[in-house]
Amino acid sequence: MAITRKELPNFTSRMAFILVTAGAAVGLGNVWGFPYVAGKNGGGGFMLIYLLALAFVATPVLMAELLLGRMGRASPPTALKNLQIEAGRKEPWPVIMWVGLMGTILILSFYMVIAGQAIFYGFEAMTESFHGWTPEDIIAFDAAYKSDILLMAFWSAVFVGLTALIVSSNITTGIELAGKWLTPILFVLLVIIVIYAGIYGDMPAALNFLFGFDHLVLTPGVLLEAVGQAFFTISVGVGAIMMYGAYMGNNVNLPKAVMWIVLMDLGVAILAGLAIFPLVFGEGVDASAGPGLIFITLPIIFAKITGGGVVAVLFFMLLAFAAITSSISLLSPTVARLEEAGWKRPHAAWAMSFAAFVLSFLTIFSFNIWSDYYPLAVLGFDGLTAFALVREGVSNVILPVVGVTCALIVGWGIKKERVKAALPMQETVLFKVWYFCLRYIVPIAISALFLNAIFGG
Ligand code: PHE
Repeated sequence: MAITRKELPNFTSRMAFILVTAGAAVGLGNVWGFPYVAGKNGGGGFMLIYLLALAFVATPVLMAELLLGRMGRASPPTALKNLQIEAGRKEPWPVIMWVGLMGTILILSFYMVIAGQAIFYGFEAMTESFHGWTPEDIIAFDAAYKSDILLMAFWSAVFVGLTALIVSSNITTGIELAGKWLTPILFVLLVIIVIYAGIYGDMPAALNFLFGFDHLVLTPGVLLEAVGQAFFTISVGVGAIMMYGAYMGNNVNLPKAVMWIVLMDLGVAILAGLAIFPLVFGEGVDASAGPGLIFITLPIIFAKITGGGVVAVLFFMLLAFAAITSSISLLSPTVARLEEAGWKRPHAAWAMSFAAFVLSFLTIFSFNIWSDYYPLAVLGFDGLTAFALVREGVSNVILPVVGVTCALIVGWGIKKERVKAALPMQETVLFKVWYFCLRYIVPIAISALFLNAIFGG
């Protein structure tokens, strides 16, 4: 039996909605992804492009996606079905959200592997504290973990199991409670680490690296990466945000909430950079050390500096908390869709977690038995492991495609009067800018990037 609009539960307050949604946005993308991408692409110049992509492409889509959720009030495919019928359109709107739902499970499949490793490192830091370990010890430790398929699968399962447990519960005692507590704790942990990094690391070098303009190489690939990272970091383009939009009460002021969510997300990304880079530069190691930044470079530093053991525990806890508030948002839409089909919530949560767990082996194997296997090399994607394909496929294809479709639906598919009434908003300058972005900027920017990626070589 379908869930009707009235039956769907709401978050209990505006504050709860903002914290939970900001928790969904703040995730591995901020702590593990952003410093890495910014480092690789060279600081300030990239930052500027990233901010533009965030402000004029990703954020307008975030607002559109939340609005679609609030208007459709169901799981993402059903919400779009409701809206398609209401708008009297022929195109099958729900199809795009099925693509989105695929994206949620694919993201979850690699998310659990990285988060699982963070939990493992957290425990290790608690018991062994990395103290006195040499860099060789840590490199060997990381390599040993990555070659142990069972151990990786175990910690991935622990993480996704926790996610399933939270999502199994009802909205207020599960998702809302987790977001309301973990998001503020995460902020506090991060601030503590930034202060510590300021004392023991080289903060001026970090600031110069993040905000200085020295070595930007502007290519279409960098632009696509900026857009991909902007979409990924605020979680648009898979329906996770649309689902939270459906749980959002009508008392929430949408534009204001969007502003808070984006600012909190950006704040955490920058703070994560200011937590990590001062330590990196203080120790004179290479900043663009890649994903190994988190699991090799940082532990090497933690092993050396005063109080490093405690900071290591806090840091990996932070990473795990950031990840879990995001993973619950990734699991929610498919679970809600299965509930509409008559499933019990816990059954749906465990079944989808299991599906994601099976897919997680694509990522796990990419660190060991498939580390030199590039599944789509014949199609020109040489050098990309299964994990890289999943990660880049989601960020650079699924998120922008679903995102642009949401923009088109709100910008062109639904009547402007209806959009204004649903926000609710007058035709202010803010509204006009947003609407213009949805109608023109987002579709043009994303098509241009795609055309370039396909034909630009
Ligand atoms: N925004 C999350 C992060 O930055 C990832 C995510 C993407 C979560 C899409 C939900 C949906 O890590």
